[in-house]
Amino acid sequence: MTAPLRPNNLEAFWMPFTANRQFKQAPRLLVGAKGMYYTDADGREILDGTAGLWCVNAGHAREKIVEAVSSQVAELDYAPAFQMGHPKAFELASRLANMMPSPLDHVFFTNSGSESVDTALKIALAYHRARGKGTKFRLLGRERGYHGVGFGGISVGGISGNRKTFGTLLTGVDHIRHTHDLSRNAFSRGEPEYGAEFADDLEKVIALHDASNIAALIVEPVAGSTGVLIPPKGYLKRLREICDKHDILLIFDEVITGFGRCGTMMGADAFGVVPDLMTFAKQVTNGVQPLGGVVASKAIYDTFMAAGGPDYMLEFAHGYTYSAHPVACAAGIAALDLLEREDGPGRVKALSAHFEAAVHGLKGARHVLDIRNYGLAAGFTIAPVAGEPARRPYDIAMACWKKGFYVRYGGDTIQLAPPFISEKAELDRLVNALGDALAETV
Ligand SMILES: Cc1ncc(COP(=O)(O)O)c(C=O)c1O
Repeated sequence: MTAPLRPNNLEAFWMPFTANRQFKQAPRLLVGAKGMYYTDADGREILDGTAGLWCVNAGHAREKIVEAVSSQVAELDYAPAFQMGHPKAFELASRLANMMPSPLDHVFFTNSGSESVDTALKIALAYHRARGKGTKFRLLGRERGYHGVGFGGISVGGISGNRKTFGTLLTGVDHIRHTHDLSRNAFSRGEPEYGAEFADDLEKVIALHDASNIAALIVEPVAGSTGVLIPPKGYLKRLREICDKHDILLIFDEVITGFGRCGTMMGADAFGVVPDLMTFAKQVTNGVQPLGGVVASKAIYDTFMAAGGPDYMLEFAHGYTYSAHPVACAAGIAALDLLEREDGPGRVKALSAHFEAAVHGLKGARHVLDIRNYGLAAGFTIAPVAGEPARRPYDIAMACWKKGFYVRYGGDTIQLAPPFISEKAELDRLVNALGDALAETV
């Protein structure tokens, strides 16, 4: 390992979703990564228990992706995203279209999950307008949903801490209830038995606003960032039926569930429900380059084309300077090659029973109120310290960090989402370290 890198001054960087004051007193600096492991500034190996931020599913610094990015920078570093194209954008879009559940086959590129969500919401609104249904302007989300941090995403998102400061721009939105029912489903393995009827909440919200005013409902098939909340059996199917009945678009935010995490290519495949629009990001490039997107059906795309006026006019006034950035597309193509060649979804499926048994082995551990899992993702609800709801998960994650393990914490939860290349022994070490951290934490 080369000499550890330590910045002299930590002040200027205003860190995202970070307790800046706390971090800067005791920084956790990562200076390298390979495979399953980070190296920190002290030269310690840290097992990556959350695949970065749910994105480095094939493990770090994979050679083929590194090569693809390096050669793309040298060949075509940037191409204007508007009114111009480059071959890799079309190649990646075709590739994605072939991987998606039918009839999703047209891809609009963005740079992140947040942008993908805002783009999907805009497509939904513009789609209804193009069909002469411009009164369908309301957007629905779900409690405890996380859809990034754009104004659209926090509006439909259901995490109060992310929304409450931002006032009146969040109008025209309503939420259905979340599905996490500890009274009936605590310690569920896979899809919980009870709670399909939570979907009927959608009928109530529709009765309140009227379907003629509602454009779309957005949900994560598995809510990731709020602690891995698994949909109850039959719940997503019921949402699909209700949306169909009322001409409301169903959007799946697959920023976490896409590309293998559920043991299938997309979360939609795992639950047998196809949305009208699907967002993706993160692992499409294995986290190496920022890239996201929205996938729509040909019918939705054609609606925009038909309403677009003369053929020199834009059909959808939306896009980003870096939409379909050539380097991100090169990373995406290489990452999808790897995902298919190594059968990422199959690997998740093969590991999931072992992972499930390991995480549920922590039932009865100190502070643990619930454990749930799906594919290669698990969430733990941690009993809060009175009056300090977010403190204990932080303490637990820091105890893991000291032992050389990186886990995510948020709200009253701990989350695990190891890379697909994990060996069973590594999963065991991760879960054992969490068990030790739980036992040590007051
Ligand atoms: C389901 C979901 N949607 C959207 C986002 C936002 O993605 P980004 O941070 O790339 O903007 C995330 C990020 O974790 C996510 O989990």
